[in-house]
Amino acid sequence: MAKEIINVELKARKIDFAKCQTDLLCLGLFSDAKGLDKVCKEIDSKLGGAIERLIKLGDFNGKDGSSEIVYGEDKIGAKRVLLIGLGETKKATLDTLRKAAAGAAKKSVAMKVENVSLALHKAFGTRFDLAAMGQVVAEGVYFGSYLYDEFVTGSENGRLDRLCAELIDSDSTKTKNLNKGLSVGTVIGKAQIYTRTLANRPGNVINPVSLAEEAKKLARGSKTLSCTVFDEKQLAAKGMGGVLAVGAGSQNKPTFIVLKYTPASKAVKAGPTIGLVGKAITFDSGGISIKPSSGMEEMKFDKSGGVAVLGVMKAVAELKLDVNVYGIIPAAENMPSGTSYRPGDIITTFSGKTVEIHSTDAEGRMILCDALSYAAREKCDIIIDIATLTGACMVALGKFMAGLMGNDEKLIKQLQRAAGESGEKVWHMPSGDEYAEEMKSKIADLKNTGSRWGGACTAAAFLGQFVEDKKWAHLDIAGMDMFEKATEFATPGSSGFGVRLLIAYLMSISKKG
Ligand code: BES
Ligand code: MN
Ligand code: ZN
Repeated sequence: MAKEIINVELKARKIDFAKCQTDLLCLGLFSDAKGLDKVCKEIDSKLGGAIERLIKLGDFNGKDGSSEIVYGEDKIGAKRVLLIGLGETKKATLDTLRKAAAGAAKKSVAMKVENVSLALHKAFGTRFDLAAMGQVVAEGVYFGSYLYDEFVTGSENGRLDRLCAELIDSDSTKTKNLNKGLSVGTVIGKAQIYTRTLANRPGNVINPVSLAEEAKKLARGSKTLSCTVFDEKQLAAKGMGGVLAVGAGSQNKPTFIVLKYTPASKAVKAGPTIGLVGKAITFDSGGISIKPSSGMEEMKFDKSGGVAVLGVMKAVAELKLDVNVYGIIPAAENMPSGTSYRPGDIITTFSGKTVEIHSTDAEGRMILCDALSYAAREKCDIIIDIATLTGACMVALGKFMAGLMGNDEKLIKQLQRAAGESGEKVWHMPSGDEYAEEMKSKIADLKNTGSRWGGACTAAAFLGQFVEDKKWAHLDIAGMDMFEKATEFATPGSSGFGVRLLIAYLMSISKKG
């Protein structure tokens, strides 16, 4: 492949803020702060009141997402100071700091600076644990510096090959504590951009076979990960009718990817197993029930759930979490052709249950149902699937939160907590009997679409019938998988949604977490 993504190095360093030699020193300010905090005051007095003047003139107000640059003019070590608005003090969370770091990193790449020094955590004082702040700053730095330009050959949007970022504090015990979280955040941050690159790659690059190659490559690089891939023949032998039906219309044959993480500790091996199931439709044209052409290019992101699972598995191995995890990724390309599955077809799924096809565009549930039953049969105690499943979920929640459904209250609560920690928001939605009722077919056990209403809930209710007696949760990330436009802290394209959320969940149940 042509070009590597930007290489970001990140460390923590003890240094006096005013003395720090850097291209860009980043400081955070709240919009409702009464006067400057200690660090800002120190820098401001060295700069002869330049920061105070900006604020007095109303050129910088500390609003969420705002930023302003002040020049160092050889009065401090830094060439420039970037002031980042943190919004209202009482609204601030760790995610405020994560986003501020992402914004700072994005600016650094845009400005083509070689070094950036972050003192954003100082504005938060003792409000959060230093390790937690180190973690979110690291996650933010990787998130914000990310740019997908693998196939851009021109140089007019040129960028440097790397960015040296550092978290600075004048107190060495503080840098030490920040550093603890920084290493975890780096693993998570890198896992998320790995996922984003895979998701951003187009359908002519990532197909079910090349995705499986990627999973194998990941496993080869790790002692604790192993990877098995079933091809079309093996899928047929196993009776995975759902995956086969969806893949039938494409020249690119479907695959079924199973990654297994085995922790080192024997005690953990005996503990519960988590199955992560990710939808990987490498391109969703809708099939015979073809989608409108406008916006269809976005359907390369229909593999986002699957590649999120790949990113999570990478991080789980690197963090050496104390938990058994399977990453199960059914992969297919949904295309219209003479060999496609059709509306009206009755498909026998891996579970033995039959499904009458009402729309070939409701393909996600057809591959997930096989993967969920597979997870149940592999004795996963807890199964979590993640999928760009329904436009209806986007209609319900917008592009702010993912739908969360499931059959176990405790699991739902744990995922809600992980969402709070990771900043990847979820909203609990129903998927009970009323919705399941709508998925009954007159001539088969189930059909693959419900009525006009509650499409995200009926889709989840369909999936819920394939998990046997296991604890299960479903994340509908349609709409959350990608940014349509650039924001202050993100580039357009894949968001890598779910990577941080699922790692936060696994860390919370891992003894090491
Ligand atoms: N991949 C789509 C869902 C989707 C839509 C994701 C928009 C991201 C943005 C899914 O396969 C699909 O086509 N769902 C149908 C289901 C319907 C036919 C029951 C939908 O949502 O319209
Ligand atoms: Mn579809
Ligand atoms: Zn789809």
